Amino acid sequence: MTTNQNVNDKPSIGIVGAGLVGCLAALAFTRKGYDVNLFDLRPNPSSIDRSRRNLRSINLAVSNRGLRAVEYVDEALSRKILEHVIPMQGRMVHDKTGLKQESQLYGLHGECINSIDRSYLNDLLLEELAESGVKVYFEHKLVKLGNVDTAPTMEFAKKDGNVTFGFDYIIGADGAHSHFRHQMQKGMRMDFSQKYIDMQYMELYIPPDPEKKFAIDANHLHIWPRHDFMLIALANEDGSFTSTFFSPWHVIESITSSSEFTQFFKTNFPDAYNLIGEEALVSAFDNNPRGSLMQISAYPYNSPHGKAIIIGDAAHSMVPFYGQGMNCGFEDVRILMELIEANEGNIEKAFLAYSPQRKDDLDAICKLALDNYYEMSSKVTNIWYLVKKKLDYTLGSWFENRWLPLYTMISFRDDIPYSKAVTIEAKQSRILNNLQIGLVGSILVYGAVQGARLYEKWKYR
Ligand SMILES: Cc1cc2nc3c(=O)[nH]c(=O)nc-3n(C[C@H](O)[C@H](O)[C@H](O)COP(=O)(O)OP(=O)(O)OC[C@H]3O[C@@H](n4cnc5c(N)ncnc54)[C@H](O)[C@@H]3O)c2cc1C
Ligand SMILES: *[C@@H]1O[C@H](CO)[C@@H](O)[C@H](O)[C@H]1NC(C)=O
Repeated sequence: MTTNQNVNDKPSIGIVGAGLVGCLAALAFTRKGYDVNLFDLRPNPSSIDRSRRNLRSINLAVSNRGLRAVEYVDEALSRKILEHVIPMQGRMVHDKTGLKQESQLYGLHGECINSIDRSYLNDLLLEELAESGVKVYFEHKLVKLGNVDTAPTMEFAKKDGNVTFGFDYIIGADGAHSHFRHQMQKGMRMDFSQKYIDMQYMELYIPPDPEKKFAIDANHLHIWPRHDFMLIALANEDGSFTSTFFSPWHVIESITSSSEFTQFFKTNFPDAYNLIGEEALVSAFDNNPRGSLMQISAYPYNSPHGKAIIIGDAAHSMVPFYGQGMNCGFEDVRILMELIEANEGNIEKAFLAYSPQRKDDLDAICKLALDNYYEMSSKVTNIWYLVKKKLDYTLGSWFENRWLPLYTMISFRDDIPYSKAVTIEAKQSRILNNLQIGLVGSILVYGAVQGARLYEKWKYR
């Protein structure tokens, strides 16, 4: 057994999972002077021949919470990240004829969320870790935790046999199917639930345009909402878009051949059908995997004596419809580090304080993520929703800082915890509903002409 305890007088930390969240956590601890060891079952990405790596980008949206957490850990790194993002200032809603697109801005003042290449971000974090002297062990698959709350050990399976390490503190950032969490659960009373939602996703690809570079506006998150199912697309730096098709399982399963699939696209997403291309759709139907989506919640996140903790998707996997999964995982890291600071470096105390402090916020964002599916897939085309949203945003611009639309609070206001955003929204929503009823009344009194004028004014706010 390898013991890494007390190499210097700072405690040793073992982290499982070199995904986005595990890497940021490793960087955060190493910047504070801890002896950090990071493990992942994957091979070292930099050892894989680039020609054999899947070079097609898969992107995700990074917003203020995620950026603030990176900035907290390393300001220069957050600037590096921002050099390679594509800002998205709103949604672009594509109608079923394929001829009309409507922009719906996200923020009151042009705030943006940002599209970033997932593997670029992961590689950047790994490079930073290598430079910081963090020991990163690839092809180490966690199989067992021991003595979790006294002197924690972690056993890993490698190609040439198993190896065990001991650390002062251990952190599980090994994703939704976390084995760390599973092992932790054996020794404690951790509540746990896992719920699959009836939804699959398939990744598609829109190539760069030979003339315009971007075939559609790069600075929007494109949505083709069709109630039961939807398509989205986010731009990549090279001019391509990563597109994702979401549908209930019965929809995709009722499509039995690639020609039915292309016909389905032609009917429902005619402009996307042209952008992706018939051949690529055929190939996607035959070859691309269909992902499932689930929600995981666990509580508490820490072991009873504060030696072990889970963060990121391992603790709270959410559906991707608010674009907050990684952002929230990054925020986990910031909150944890701030608690360690507040407890003067006492990690036990910080781990114990983390769970009760974080629970309501994690529950809130998981629920919002689920609710947002309905907003994206159908409400964005509903007139009541649009009027309410215009009102919401109008009030937001009149009463700066005293009236904040929910999307603004979640995506752009990292100073407002998720659960507080939900409480504020509930209050505002009651007011809005009353206003809306009142407004309909006044419109009737004012007459249709005035009303139409008023609506036009909002529309082009
Ligand atoms: C379709 C889709 C779109 C999304 N879009 C967004 C978005 O726009 N914005 C956003 O913020 N979030 C988004 N998310 C969520 C985001 O991808 C996750 O929240 C994020 O990747 C979680 O990071 P993580 O490091 O916790 O886990 P992961 O990224 O899953 O990393 C876990 C790591 O642990 C390793 N591991 C697993 N088991 C073991 C083991 N036994 N031993 C050793 N290592 C192990 C894995 O190899 C992996 O490297 C999206 C998710 C999906 C599915
Ligand atoms: C390695 O760990 C796995 C999982 O616990 C176990 O099945 C296997 O027997 C171990 N191998 C050795 C050589 O100990």
